[in-house]
Order: sequence, then structure tokens, then C-alpha cells
Amino acid sequence: MAEFRWHLSDPPPRIQDHSHAKLKVLRSYLSAYFDRLNVSPHREEFKLDLVDGFCGGGTFTDGTITVPGSPLIMLEEAHAANDRLNRNRAKRLRVDCKFYFVDKEQAHIDHLNACLAERGYGPNDERIVLRHGHFENSLDGIVAEIQRRQPRAGRSIFLLDQAGFAQVELELVNRIFRGRFRLLCGYGSILAPCGGLRGGSRWRAGSVLGFDSRWPFA
Ligand SMILES: C[S@@+](CC[C@H](N)C(=O)[O-])C[C@H]1O[C@@H](n2cnc3c(N)ncnc32)[C@H](O)[C@@H]1O
Repeated sequence: MAEFRWHLSDPPPRIQDHSHAKLKVLRSYLSAYFDRLNVSPHREEFKLDLVDGFCGGGTFTDGTITVPGSPLIMLEEAHAANDRLNRNRAKRLRVDCKFYFVDKEQAHIDHLNACLAERGYGPNDERIVLRHGHFENSLDGIVAEIQRRQPRAGRSIFLLDQAGFAQVELELVNRIFRGRFRLLCGYGSILAPCGGLRGGSRWRAGSVLGFDSRWPFA
């Protein structure tokens, strides 16, 4: 499987059909998730941390069109949810999201940074954390930050869109499931609503939708 490459001096990579489909699933999952968890008109605040562990450079091209990649979709869907959920609401809901975008390639992070700046996200925006490095090495720090920001609920969604099954190890997935986190994977691959038990090491899996039947839980 060819890896996508981003560089500031090059156009973004051309999107392939399967990536298009995957991004469509991500967008519709996030939209449905925001709506499902915010049915109560009495809720005043909704906190969610979104982690894109293999985030890429932010955009693709499709002919002459620029197509948002997963980090931009996360931002767009959080923004859209804030508008949608506050329509016709007597009591305003504060949608408070924090985003972690990690990639092992500095050029990809630079490209994403430029995409964010073009869309008006400043370098001092505290809601967005960009990390250059291997996700495996960033995971524990990110989990600790989520637990600090949301000590009770720890509500989070992790997207692991690796370009090959071997890049996400079970041990990594287990570390995520130990929290009260949701995990979405790319190839290799699960879309897994799950809830871990606070303070415990057990986890219970909810329904699991595999994009790729090699995944052992699918
Ligand atoms: C399929 S691309 C991501 C595309 C992106 N999710 C999207 O849809 O816009 C996979 C990315 O993972 C990055 N990557 C590969 N191994 C990694 C690792 N261990 N930690 C962090 N990033 C990694 C690659 O550099 C590449 O940018």
C-alpha cells in the first residue's frame, strides 16, 4: 500500500476511493455521535477530546478540488455540531472540544499547520495540539492530558488511521480501551463504541464495525 506524502512545496496527495469512503464514514459517525450524546435540552456543556494519532497533512486533492482530511473533518464536525445543537435551544450548550493531531513526519505536521492557518486557526489556539512523533510515544501523555481536562468522564474519540495493519499494535489499542475512550481505526480496522470502567483495567466492547476483517475483534 503506497503511503501518502505531504510537503509544503507540493500539492496534497490525490485522494483514493477507499479514503473518500473512509472519510465519509468518519464525518457521519462524528455527526451522529454529537447528536446522540446531546439529546437532553438541560445539558449546558459537552466536553470531548478528539485524537487523530496518524493525522497526515490535512488535505487531499480530487482533480481540482481540495478535500479535507481527517483532522479538518474533526474540526469541521465539532463546529457544525455546535451550530446545529444550539439551533432552537432555549439553554445554550457549550461544545468544548480539544484536538490532538500526531504524525511521525515533520513535513506532514507542517502541511497540516499551514492548512489550519489558512482556515483561521491560530498558532496559539489552545484547543488544538499538534505533535510531531510516533503516536505510540505520545499516547500516554495524551491520555494523561485528557484525564486532567476531564477527570470524571474522560470522553474521547481516538482515530488510528494507519496505512497498514501492522502499525497499530494490540497493546496500543488496549491502552486506549483502558480509558473511557472510543476508537476508530483505518485499515486493519475497527469502529468501536466502547466504554472502559473508570479507574479499572477492564473494558467492555460495544458493537464493532470492521473495515477490514483481519481485525481480531471484527
Ligand atoms: C493514511 S495517512 C493518514 C491520513 C489521514 N488520517 C486523513 O485521512 O486525512 C497515515 C499517516 O500516518 C503517519 N504515521 C505512520 N506511522 C505513524 C506512527 N507510528 N505514529 C504517527 N504517525 C504515523 C504517516 O506519516 C501518515 O501521514
